[in-house]
Amino acid sequence: MTLKIRINLIVSILLFLTLIVGGGIFTIKNARGNIQAEIASTAILALHMLDSEILSYSLSSGRMSPANVSSGSIFQLNRLMDIRHLKIDFYDARGRLRDSNKKNRTKVDAPPKWFEAMMDNVTDEMPITKRKVYNKGHIVGELVVTPDPSYEIAEIWEEIKGQLLFIGLFFIVVNILIYYFVGRALRPIDSVLKALTDLELGHLTTRLPKFNLPELSSISDKFNVMANTLEESIADNRNLTQQLIQVQEDERKNLARELHDEIGQHLTAIHIDASAILKAKTIEVSKQSASAIDQVARQMMDIVHNILQRLRPSGLDQFGLEIALQELINGWQQRHKDIVVKYDVRGVFNDLDESILITIYRLIQECLTNISRHAQAKNIQIYLIKYPETIELSIEDDGKGFDQTVKPGGFGLAGMRERVEALVGKLDIKTSPEGTKISIELPCLTRGEK
Ligand SMILES: Nc1ncnc2c1ncn2[C@@H]1O[C@H](COP(=O)(O)OP(=O)(O)O)[C@@H](O)[C@H]1O
Ligand SMILES: [Mg+2]
Repeated sequence: MTLKIRINLIVSILLFLTLIVGGGIFTIKNARGNIQAEIASTAILALHMLDSEILSYSLSSGRMSPANVSSGSIFQLNRLMDIRHLKIDFYDARGRLRDSNKKNRTKVDAPPKWFEAMMDNVTDEMPITKRKVYNKGHIVGELVVTPDPSYEIAEIWEEIKGQLLFIGLFFIVVNILIYYFVGRALRPIDSVLKALTDLELGHLTTRLPKFNLPELSSISDKFNVMANTLEESIADNRNLTQQLIQVQEDERKNLARELHDEIGQHLTAIHIDASAILKAKTIEVSKQSASAIDQVARQMMDIVHNILQRLRPSGLDQFGLEIALQELINGWQQRHKDIVVKYDVRGVFNDLDESILITIYRLIQECLTNISRHAQAKNIQIYLIKYPETIELSIEDDGKGFDQTVKPGGFGLAGMRERVEALVGKLDIKTSPEGTKISIELPCLTRGEK
């Protein structure tokens, strides 16, 4: 059941209870009281008059003749047709009905059965009154006065009918109004649902308008912020993936070029020298060529070592993180003799998971690359400290800093962040014209824990 119909139903039920049950019970109770009072007062009056009639007739002999009794005209009850709330019957001495005030009364419109049922036994406490009629010491008959609420009930029904009709109409009109206004008030919910569905289908540009209701308006604001964030982060992700692919491609291209240019050339040289040895007439000539091969082979070893180093820091596996880092920093320092590097490492890192080790290595490597490319720094401080639960790494330079709000063209910082977040760590960058400090916190995942 929709919210709109539900609200409508609840309000309808409440309204119904108040109007019909509350108002109805009150009206009916009132009506019962009225009927009783009306009938009681009529009964007193009628009995009073009948009593004096009986008295006077019992004394006069003429009207009490048997002929009058059997024709039922002693009391001429048909003249009392207008006493509507009482049924007055005259029975002769043998119990036969001789006269009644209800014989040829015009019937009123009968109220519906349920209404009569509610008025049922309204006259229960009112007794049927009987008066024996004597004449000269003999019973000639009996007058029976019975309360008869039917006419009064019908009359009250006529009155209530109008009221009920009005209440019914009021009920319908109020219901229509509520349906309309609830529908109007809830219309923004349809927009919210539609926007959510749109988002689910991947239409990330979907936004909600401002609504009048403050609650809905703040839902709309929050939705828009969320959609914005989602749109941006998906775009970022796409960018990052594309850049990752690009970086991989570039790296492959470089490797291919180096393999072709350097190794290819050297292999050609070896090939030529080897041929020379084969063709050599004197031992001197072959010795010369052999020493040339030796030299080229040494150069090739360096090249292969460099390439492997780039593909994967080899020292990490062989000698552990501390030495691999020392080698990295030393190599960097060799290329940047004018920059002072202060490097401090504390703790034992052997038992850490490889993912953590390689991340620390790559983070420092990227920071050093950035400093040499962008910072124009004079001093660098690198701290690496292992605590029982976490590892803290900070790389600080006194270079020119950068504007973090400008989207970088490169992928280095974003890649660093990705690596750290993948390990559920934290990365914080503080930068100003006085320098840049990158602080990283990583969890101490031990080998095989990840
Ligand atoms: N230590 C630093 N000092 C000054 N600028 C920096 C530093 N590190 C990064 N930057 C700035 O942040 C930008 C983004 O760096 P990065 O994501 O590594 O991309 P890239 O190095 O390929 O340009 C750089 O272009 C540079 O402007
Ligand atoms: Mg970079």
